[in-house]
Amino acid sequence: MPTVLRTVGEVSAWSERARREGRVALVPTMGFLHEGHLTLLREARRRAERVAATVFVNPKQFGPNEDFSRYPRDLEGDLRKCDSAGAEVVFAPEERELYPAGFQTAVEVGELSRGLCGERRPGHFRGVATVVTKLLCAVRPHLALFGEKDYQQLQVIRALARDLDLGVEIVGVPTVREPDGLALSSRNAYLSAEDRKRALAIHRGMLAAKQRVGAGGRAVRELVDLVRKSLASEGLREDYVEIVDAQTLKSLTSVSPERPSRLLVAAFVGSTRLIDNIAL
Ligand code: PAJ
Repeated sequence: MPTVLRTVGEVSAWSERARREGRVALVPTMGFLHEGHLTLLREARRRAERVAATVFVNPKQFGPNEDFSRYPRDLEGDLRKCDSAGAEVVFAPEERELYPAGFQTAVEVGELSRGLCGERRPGHFRGVATVVTKLLCAVRPHLALFGEKDYQQLQVIRALARDLDLGVEIVGVPTVREPDGLALSSRNAYLSAEDRKRALAIHRGMLAAKQRVGAGGRAVRELVDLVRKSLASEGLREDYVEIVDAQTLKSLTSVSPERPSRLLVAAFVGSTRLIDNIAL
């Protein structure tokens, strides 16, 4: 089983030793691990000799009316899964270890964190950027891996690592899906069997848009409408459906084969908010 480390001092000391023997990779998570997280860990193990996972449900990235207190937790199960996926240590700090009394610093990434989820979840990316910066400083890995499932988050983290000269390689890993297309997410645990089926409308809508692009569709309005129709067919409530430049995340009015673009969707299935995205 991986060693559980509880303090910044412990994980820094582990990393200091590990770095002498090879490349160190970090996979930050909020736990309740699924095959998506495990794919990040296996990819980390492929690229580095020593792998650390973190399990920390970060209160700073949840809004006041969001699901922080009921976010699923299962450290015992997570440790078994980390073991099978090749993580040597799991850094699982208490809240007061990362945010002791008097903590008053935040990391704010500019434009990239303003639209999409940043607009609907004020303060969310400040919370993400702050905790990820702290984890990268505590562990100082050669590389850190993040999923494309959270596409805007991945771009925000790339920016902070670059802008703050953290000297870490940020690796993006493609989204892992259920056989029927639903993106794996810890929040899928909130869905009833019925809602689980309805949630597929997100992936179906994204595929319809991608197929339309393959058939020559270029107008963003038309592509977004295809996704909206799919969401509506299952009674899902849209939070946003946007097509943006894959690097800058700026809104587009048309897609073009010369410029990578990304379709991003956030929708409520009942009270559960799910996000997904696809390259067009
Ligand atoms: P969490 O939602 O637990 O996700 C941890 C990592 O797993 C993130 O990089 C996320 O993009 C990736 N991931 C989640 N589902 C995935 C899937 N289906 N396929 C591939 N990768 C997937 O994202 C967070 O935690 C937090 O915001 C964190 C970065 C840990 C900061 O608190």
